[in-house]
Amino acid sequence: MKLKLFSCALALTAALTAQAQTHVMDVKTQKAGAAVPSTMYGLFFEDINFAADGGLYGELVKNRSFEFPQHFMGWRVFGNVELKDDGLFERCPHYVVLSDPGHKERRTGLQNEGFFGIGVEKDKDYRFSVWARAPKGSSQIRVQLINEQAMYERQNFSEVKIDVKGTEWKRYEVMIKATRTEPKAQLRIFLSSKDPVALEHVSLFPKDTYKGRENGLRNDLAQALADMHPGVFRFPGGCIVEGTTLDTRYQWKNTIGRVENRPLNRNRWEDTFDYRYFADYYQSYGLGFFEFFQLCEDIGAEPLPVLSVGLACQFQNGLDAHAKMDELKPFIDDCLDLIEFANGPADSQWGKIRAEMGHPEPFNMKYLGIGNEQWDTPYFERLKPFVEAVRAKYPKIKIVGTSGPDSEGKMFEKGWKAMKEQKADLVDEHFYRPEAWFLATDEARQRYGNCGALRYDSYDRKGPKVFAGEYACHGKGKKWNHYETSLYEAAFMTGLERNADVVEMATYAPLFAHVDGWQWRPDMIWYDNLRMFKSVSYYVQQMYAMNKGTHVLQLTTADPNNAKKQVPVAGQNGMDGLFASSVLDNAAGEVVIKVVNTSSQPQAVSINLHGMKGERTAQTLTLSWNGSMDDENTLDEPEKIVPKAGTLQCGVGAKQLTVLTDNVPAMAFRLYRVKK
Ligand code: AHR
Repeated sequence: MKLKLFSCALALTAALTAQAQTHVMDVKTQKAGAAVPSTMYGLFFEDINFAADGGLYGELVKNRSFEFPQHFMGWRVFGNVELKDDGLFERCPHYVVLSDPGHKERRTGLQNEGFFGIGVEKDKDYRFSVWARAPKGSSQIRVQLINEQAMYERQNFSEVKIDVKGTEWKRYEVMIKATRTEPKAQLRIFLSSKDPVALEHVSLFPKDTYKGRENGLRNDLAQALADMHPGVFRFPGGCIVEGTTLDTRYQWKNTIGRVENRPLNRNRWEDTFDYRYFADYYQSYGLGFFEFFQLCEDIGAEPLPVLSVGLACQFQNGLDAHAKMDELKPFIDDCLDLIEFANGPADSQWGKIRAEMGHPEPFNMKYLGIGNEQWDTPYFERLKPFVEAVRAKYPKIKIVGTSGPDSEGKMFEKGWKAMKEQKADLVDEHFYRPEAWFLATDEARQRYGNCGALRYDSYDRKGPKVFAGEYACHGKGKKWNHYETSLYEAAFMTGLERNADVVEMATYAPLFAHVDGWQWRPDMIWYDNLRMFKSVSYYVQQMYAMNKGTHVLQLTTADPNNAKKQVPVAGQNGMDGLFASSVLDNAAGEVVIKVVNTSSQPQAVSINLHGMKGERTAQTLTLSWNGSMDDENTLDEPEKIVPKAGTLQCGVGAKQLTVLTDNVPAMAFRLYRVKK
């Protein structure tokens, strides 16, 4: 693949010498291939790592309705506090009564620790709300933001008083301005009257939520999702769809309607790892299906809800844990009713609830996942009646089945075969695999078979489409975020892009992790109570999502073993660690080329843009890093490694052909946009 260099005046190729091994590539810009699905690059949200309560969901109070099995978990109570269970919300009936402590120097009250503390920022407003009643007609509470450890004279730095009037339950709301920035504050409530008060659903939200909604989302985290420009949004899981037991599976019907009456669920991720154990991991369902659909609409992503197929987590259970074949009706009804909730008219049974929640227009849901990561006969036989019922009533809904937890092997093959037989529209594949898998080294191909960027080149074009629903490169012996693995994800994704005719969507996993509450790494976005950072993997995903184009363009090079044959650039032996793909962006009238150099040396490339003539200026975006390959962005240095924009002058070759010549830095991902 030696090339006589054409006279390209290139800013970034100063280091290129006549002796350099130049990798020549050819892009057929005049021949638009398969359309790139608008859903191609998306997001997968699961409530793992405190992603919902304590994460994306703006609520700052843990166990706000006293419904945790240990009713005061998250709370510290003092003085004369009584727990009652005959409250006004029948699915969340518990509440507390604060009464006189019996001496004027003593106190009654309670204190909430939030999720690893309560993060508040100086001069920002926080919406405190509570349902309250005064059994004797009137009472008063003082509500404070405190820092218990503070060396100031006072622990409290903000306070409001609320007069509670009347014996009937009423909702009270006040704004509390934080006078200090505290990442780990607490909420303290004193009874400040002689007479008692009853309190229920004690809540504190930042006023400034995403889109300013009262039951809203944490602004910075939701904005990070919007900034990704995702094409699809899969929710709510993951394993939480299944539950450790069937009764703790995610039940969407419990997550709609007024938040005060959404019953608590035990989070499946409380039960998974005893070495990353969080006894207080529950789901308030405050971030429920309505909020998920609304978020999808806000960020322009197709919603892809996943529902239970009647199987509890297959990893954690034997066969008797699942719903029997003759017990599937409520699960099937959940699917049909969800479609009506999302798409039905505002006067239909479930559409009415959507309308009452403030969204009379349909959400236009098009996809439904049935089962998360299920496998074998227990899945296949259960899926069948679901498919029949959904097809019969909603033939346009695209059904997403699954090939199970493995990306290859007997069970995976069996899963695909069954999905083809049942005519699933898409098959959800999951692969958390090491570096070698993503690079498709010889050893990995021997061990795993079909892996790396060429994986989808051989897929059947007539069967269901692929949804790469959960994937991430897990460093061997280093299962956490680092630059190197993110770069390999970028390399692998050239294969998704090239195969956009069979891969309809792909979502990295998991999405979110609280630094104080994670169970699983690596993750795409990390945060504490006030700060967040986007991992390098986030930027890789974003570079693809924002440059997905509209049509695949063929990008090839001469086969290193047979110069007469053209092959994709996918890191094969002789490619010096290069991966590349190209798309046309019809709307912008631009050709987009992505090149990933996974080698430790810069690589010279010369890309012939067939169908284009004359010089051009390419806009470039480069993700590269000169430090350790184990580095990653952090809360303290959130922008240590981010893509950088630049330009590159393309020259001309024979017959004025536009030629993009570059020296791609070692271990770097560079994309180019060139006007056609
Ligand atoms: O993303 C974490 C978990 O990985 C998901 O819940 C599950 O589907 C997979 O095993």
